[in-house]
Amino acid sequence: MANSPLRKELHEENRLSWNEATKAHNSHKGNQGKFFLEGGSTLFPEEVELLGDINGLSVVHLQCNAGQDTLSLARLGANVTGVDISDEAINFAHKLAQDSGIDAVFERADVFDWLEQAANKSKYDIVFSSYGAICWLSDLNLWATRIASILNEGGRLVLMEFHPVAMMFDIDLSHKFPYFRNGEALTWDDGVSDYVAESNTGLAPDNYQAGIQNFSNPYRSHEFQWGIGEIITALLQAGLILITFKEYPYSNGWKPFDNMKEEPGRRMFPPDNTPNIPLMYGIVVIKNGCIDINF
Ligand SMILES: C[S@@+](CC[C@H](N)C(=O)[O-])C[C@H]1O[C@@H](n2cnc3c(N)ncnc32)[C@H](O)[C@@H]1O
Repeated sequence: MANSPLRKELHEENRLSWNEATKAHNSHKGNQGKFFLEGGSTLFPEEVELLGDINGLSVVHLQCNAGQDTLSLARLGANVTGVDISDEAINFAHKLAQDSGIDAVFERADVFDWLEQAANKSKYDIVFSSYGAICWLSDLNLWATRIASILNEGGRLVLMEFHPVAMMFDIDLSHKFPYFRNGEALTWDDGVSDYVAESNTGLAPDNYQAGIQNFSNPYRSHEFQWGIGEIITALLQAGLILITFKEYPYSNGWKPFDNMKEEPGRRMFPPDNTPNIPLMYGIVVIKNGCIDINF
């Protein structure tokens, strides 16, 4: 790919880091098979609203991690494929599908390779991606172009993400990181953290378990913080049409700062007396055509 900033070697390091972190994350989540057997869903109302009615649609869930949201999408009647680079996450997802008796396909791959190969095989009604996915993508334009290439006419990308403005602040809400990074990698020597333990019942609502304690990741990780303008521009340049862009003053489940205020529905707000900032955003873009969107 001429002039592509794609950093596959960094994605591979991220795979190792995610393998370790995923073990720690799932160690806190109790019996997830039982949760699904009892009718549970891990989706939040914000993404359910943007997805609309997905019954009978073909959906690919990119960067699906251990498959909890993928199985929840299947439960809404979609035919779902989950894709993730982490071996640990995809192995866990296969087992969780078995334990919960929910049908879904899971494939382990770098999202860029998977999208390239899928373009020659099948098209999808919906591409879904959420909560901590975009920051692992080294080439945003290639990602957007490849998503456009696997969508049916009238198909949609639904993205629900943590806001890049939230990533500018340290845990004490001091302004520590730049907003504009121009695609430069941000390397964390301590790798993907056990943010599930840090968020406690925010991210393990069913039955938080102590699980793995004092997790230390032996593999470093590399993130790519993209601004909202860069994300929307990449999607528009791929020929997709923007139909929804929403920002939210809270984050679902995740507690990025000290002393966050939890409101019903696991909505985490900045501490009292802190002016609000956007903590999540949702985007829907559509490929050509016109379909009924049942919000
Ligand atoms: C924060 S998690 C996303 C969690 C997701 N919202 C869910 O449903 O649980 C980020 C995921 O991106 C995956 N990932 C990172 N880089 C990737 C890549 N290049 N290709 C595919 N998956 C990748 C990681 O393995 C990890 O599972």
